[in-house]
Amino acid sequence: EQDPRISKISSVIRVIPDFPKPGIMFQDITTLLLDTRAFRDTIDLFVERYRGKNISVVAGVEARGFIFGPPIALAIGAKFVPLRKPNKLPGEVISEEYSLEYGTDIMEMHVGAVQAGEHALIIDDLVATGGTLCAAIRLLERVGVHVVECACVIELLGLMGRERLGDTPLFVLVSST
Ligand code: PRP
Repeated sequence: EQDPRISKISSVIRVIPDFPKPGIMFQDITTLLLDTRAFRDTIDLFVERYRGKNISVVAGVEARGFIFGPPIALAIGAKFVPLRKPNKLPGEVISEEYSLEYGTDIMEMHVGAVQAGEHALIIDDLVATGGTLCAAIRLLERVGVHVVECACVIELLGLMGRERLGDTPLFVLVSST
């Protein structure tokens, strides 16, 4: 049986067809943020899962991992680490390249933000192909951090994103076809 909060959360995620290009059904979480009950329930569901699990790092993926990550980090007593698009972080960074539908992108993290041996949770709004989360996992593992789990609000089914994450578990609230 599904938590009754999940169906409410699912119902307030707006789907916008043909954005940002024809054929894409964009999952818009900004309407979830407008519903104070559903937004709070979203954070609570993650906090209930991860509180007391010895996680010291919540790593959020730009851009929408920056919305959901910090309240979860505060509630479980972990630090928040932004994983950013290139040339945004001012300090020394380590970078990870990853492939997109057309071309490649780069994800960066500040050197010194995390220490080897720490346990991390990675947060984003949505997993599609899994390429973004894969890059985040590699970035953290390269510096000796154990990624306990990746967590997203939405999983787009049919793109094999979950399979691409290998041994790292994926937890999502809502699955969408
Ligand atoms: C979206 C989403 C994830 C990523 C998932 O970000 O927020 O970060 O795509 O896709 P994947 O599983 O196929 O890698 P987007 O590319 O829209 O960038 P933005 O968050 O900066 O808008």
